[in-house]
Amino acid sequence: MGLKHLTIAFCLVFILMKELNCENIDNNDFERFCYPAAHQNTRKSCECSNESDPPWGLRALHIDCSFKYLRTEDLSEALPLYANTLDMSWNSLDKLPQFACDSLKQLNLIHNNISVVVSKNFIKLPKLRQLYLSWNSIQVIEPNAFEGLGSLQILDLSHNNLHALSSQMFLPMLLLENLNLSWNRLLNQTVGIQELEFYQTFGISPKLRILKLEACGLANIILPEKAPLVELNLRRNRFKRIPETLPSDLQKLDVSENLLTSLLPADTKNLTKLNELLLEDMPLLETIEENSLVPMQSLQEISFQNCRRLKSFHAYAFGVNTTKHPQLKSMIFRGSTLRSFNSTLSPIFNQLTDLDLKGMPLYCYCELNWVKDLPMETHGRCFKPSRLRGLSLTKARASDFSCSYWPQWISGLIILCLIILCAGGIYLIVMCLRPHRGSVTMRRKVGAGSPYARVTIEPNRQENNQF
Ligand SMILES: *[C@@H]1O[C@H](CO)[C@@H](O)[C@H](O)[C@H]1NC(C)=O
Ligand SMILES: *[C@@H]1O[C@H](CO)[C@@H](O)[C@H](O)[C@H]1NC(C)=O
Ligand SMILES: *[C@@H]1O[C@H](CO)[C@@H](O)[C@H](O)[C@H]1NC(C)=O
Ligand SMILES: *[C@@H]1O[C@H](CO)[C@@H](O)[C@H](O)[C@H]1NC(C)=O
Ligand SMILES: *[C@@H]1O[C@H](CO)[C@@H](O)[C@H](O)[C@H]1NC(C)=O
Repeated sequence: MGLKHLTIAFCLVFILMKELNCENIDNNDFERFCYPAAHQNTRKSCECSNESDPPWGLRALHIDCSFKYLRTEDLSEALPLYANTLDMSWNSLDKLPQFACDSLKQLNLIHNNISVVVSKNFIKLPKLRQLYLSWNSIQVIEPNAFEGLGSLQILDLSHNNLHALSSQMFLPMLLLENLNLSWNRLLNQTVGIQELEFYQTFGISPKLRILKLEACGLANIILPEKAPLVELNLRRNRFKRIPETLPSDLQKLDVSENLLTSLLPADTKNLTKLNELLLEDMPLLETIEENSLVPMQSLQEISFQNCRRLKSFHAYAFGVNTTKHPQLKSMIFRGSTLRSFNSTLSPIFNQLTDLDLKGMPLYCYCELNWVKDLPMETHGRCFKPSRLRGLSLTKARASDFSCSYWPQWISGLIILCLIILCAGGIYLIVMCLRPHRGSVTMRRKVGAGSPYARVTIEPNRQENNQF
């Protein structure tokens, strides 16, 4: 007990002393970096703000040097003590500065003009957790460039000109959780990126949870099945099928703007844990095939927004028995060109909280009547028949949908029966009118033994005659 208290007390004193000590030491440092004499009264000095950083209340210095037209020569290597975040975005850096700081956690260099990341560039930033390098013109990342970034969790290299990742380049980043390589349009030229297992080839941490590869010209990618990846963005690439080997724990997948022409069961068969699937703006997607949505039993949201060629959503897309997808809550068809939905989909559509049919050219014939009765606002409007064009589904009346409730042949039969009945009725009426004259003439002309007598005289007419 006593020892424990003593240790705690000692630690507190130690922290306090360190704090006081440094306060004196780094004031110069602080001035030098944030308000350098050379930049006095210019727009080039940075804004520095001091905060106490939870949970220990240690000092944390946030340095904002964004939008200062700074060049690499303007910067000193050593950062002030306790520097926690450094924002160098929107400057004119053409070389990556090599900072040294034991405390820096976040470094933002987006929107500069950096073209090379040299070897061991970040070796003096051992605590760095977030590194943003997007919107530069990085073409070359030298081998070992990321050495020393053992604590890095987020790396953003999007919107650059990367086209040759070197093998094992991400290996030092053992704790990397979020990697963004989007909008490096020629990344597909990297040797092996489409044929080899991605993680092994480039030394990506098995802990990765988010991977973004939007607009990289990829037609294929191979990811390990066992990886705990949660979110994958493959938007705007050249995929013709959803990649076969994807991590089985994947929860969110964006394959929008790819070259699929139809969605097949093979595309979704291993996406059993997926919550969210985006198939938006697909330039070629035409059909959602039978059973194609069956495997995704954990699905919560699916979007086909702006699929301009989507013409057919199979009646059995959720299986012949419209298998239960208990978690599915949202389906977005906004801006797609589907015209109708088969009523076999009714159990699924009825469980949704969000169904968006805005901008679809709906054919408001009888088979769509059930959609009108769904318990949510779909924003759907009729496109055909032309007398209903523009009418919103909620405002339409059931009678507008011109339903014939029986098959054609039954109504034909009914009409035929009616005609026969009418004909019979007319015949009877005529016959009713005839007896007064007819019976008289008959008695005169037709004898009791005549063959016509039994045919023309009916029982009730006989009764009439008795009166
Ligand atoms: C960016 O760097 C390139 C050379 O790498 C240079 O030609 C270009 O002028 C620079 N652009 C700006 C805006 O500084
Ligand atoms: C890379 O993608 C571009 C289109 O983005 C394509 O023209 C090119 O052929 C692709 N190259 C390889 C090697 O796949
Ligand atoms: C798909 O999942 C099954 C098990 O559900 C597994 O055996 C198979 O290897 C997976 N296929 C791919 C291509 O990952
Ligand atoms: C559909 O359900 C019926 C009974 O409800 C069952 O007999 C049939 O095998 C099921 N079909 C499929 C393809 O699951
Ligand atoms: C719904 O799909 C089934 C099976 O494909 C088909 O027989 C039926 O005609 C369709 N219903 C409508 C209204 O299209």
